Amino acid sequence: MSANLSAVAYLAAIVLFILSLGGLSNPETARRGNLYGIVGMVVAVLATILGPRVTAAGLPWIAVALAVGALIGLYAAKVVKMTQMPELVALMHSLVGLAACLVGFATYIDTSIAYSGAEKVVHDLEIYIGIYIGAVTFSGSLIAFGKLSGKIGGKPLLLPARHWLNGVAALAVIYCGYAFVQADGVAAGVWLLLLMTTLGLLFGIHMVMAIGGADMPVVVSMLNSYSGWAAAATGFMLANDLLIVVGALVGSSGAILSYIMCRAMNRNFLAVISGGFGTGDGGTKGGAGAKAPAGEVAPISAQETAELLRDAKSVVIVPGYGMAVAKAQHTVFEITRLLRERGVEVRFGIHPVAGRMPGHMNVLLAEAKVPYDIVLEMDEINADFPATDVAMVIGANDIVNPSAQDDPGSPIAGMPVLEVWKAKISIVMKRSMASGYAGVDNPLFHKDNNRMLFGDAKKTLDAVLAALKA
Ligand code: TAP
Repeated sequence: MSANLSAVAYLAAIVLFILSLGGLSNPETARRGNLYGIVGMVVAVLATILGPRVTAAGLPWIAVALAVGALIGLYAAKVVKMTQMPELVALMHSLVGLAACLVGFATYIDTSIAYSGAEKVVHDLEIYIGIYIGAVTFSGSLIAFGKLSGKIGGKPLLLPARHWLNGVAALAVIYCGYAFVQADGVAAGVWLLLLMTTLGLLFGIHMVMAIGGADMPVVVSMLNSYSGWAAAATGFMLANDLLIVVGALVGSSGAILSYIMCRAMNRNFLAVISGGFGTGDGGTKGGAGAKAPAGEVAPISAQETAELLRDAKSVVIVPGYGMAVAKAQHTVFEITRLLRERGVEVRFGIHPVAGRMPGHMNVLLAEAKVPYDIVLEMDEINADFPATDVAMVIGANDIVNPSAQDDPGSPIAGMPVLEVWKAKISIVMKRSMASGYAGVDNPLFHKDNNRMLFGDAKKTLDAVLAALKA
């Protein structure tokens, strides 16, 4: 393939990736978006392999790498459960970081192209910055994987004088960068690169270790952004326009997503990165300074729940992480269909950080064929709760916690939540009184107009469905 044809193919791939991002912004167009992404990636890979920069001698290596990568990808796609997606994503980000580091070192020690003057400075800086971002992304993502999968505790690790440690490390990285650009020859420069890489790896570990379990979603999307910038830096090193554009797309969309998630959790982005919030170990506790919930807990049976639903005019269903764990979405759909057939207005309220990944609930509901037009975002549905007869909370906890609004001492104070307690009656389905991801008590369970339907969400919903059909 000539250089011109390869450039045209790259341009087509870039357009397809942009269309893909546009498609993924809406559940109705998400499939098409995915398809654009797949086609874009095939075009990009083919244009690279058949392009002018790959020699025949390199093809067997590429074939082996493609086969190994494809097998690992297929295996992961088969065995990873939906609830483990954030871990998988974190692991994938670490690979992008590792690739940026390896490409950086390879580019530096490859002296086949001689750079001089300003061009050499720019080339060295590209390598230096690319490896640094790659190292932070690599180690940070591995720690995020460890925390999300429970292999490392969710508690933030707060070293004494941690900000000073970070400051000194940052100065050392800048100094090494200065010395690296001045370095005379590869042998001298490579040591500085290794020193900076070690500092980058330590910084990535320290940064993510200091972040509590409750802030991990933001961290994963922030590392997603870093992996994009690492890919863009790799694009600069390899003078590959496609990688630069795609890296920038991933980098900026990850940054926008981090911002949206911070807003949804009422967290300041810089405060998240500096760490120290959330425990993430899921026990029942209030969190420092939080009020202990007062009032009785009133249980309800599946039969009584079915009666309330049958008598209701309007029902709002709020799904959370527990619905994903119980794989209850199909029963939720059956109940929704039955109620709608009987003239009950059923709608869904989706919190931006419900579940364990952005869009988690939307994906599950779409899989169960729940119509998109009855799935509303938190801001669209919150005002409707006072006019709602039954708010049914399925395996959700933090996202319906009223202490976010009325207890300034709560660790989740200020986080926008779905105001289910404003409905005539709210029913919470979960297995116990245990707290959710943020590890804080939920006063909703003790409210007069709340009922608890204890048990695995799938089993209790099956019982509700059977009672509705009876
Ligand atoms: P959580 O607050 O984690 O609550 C989920 C609840 O589901 C738990 O209290 C648990 O109670 C219940 N549960 C678990 N398995 C169940 C089952 N089989 N049947 C019935 N209930 C079950 O979830 P949420 O309300 O969706 O809020 C999400 C939380 O995760 C937020 O704190 C958010 O910041 C965090 N987070 C979000 C993301 C993204 S991007 N969405 C990523 C990582 C973390 P029992 O144990 O008593 O059953």
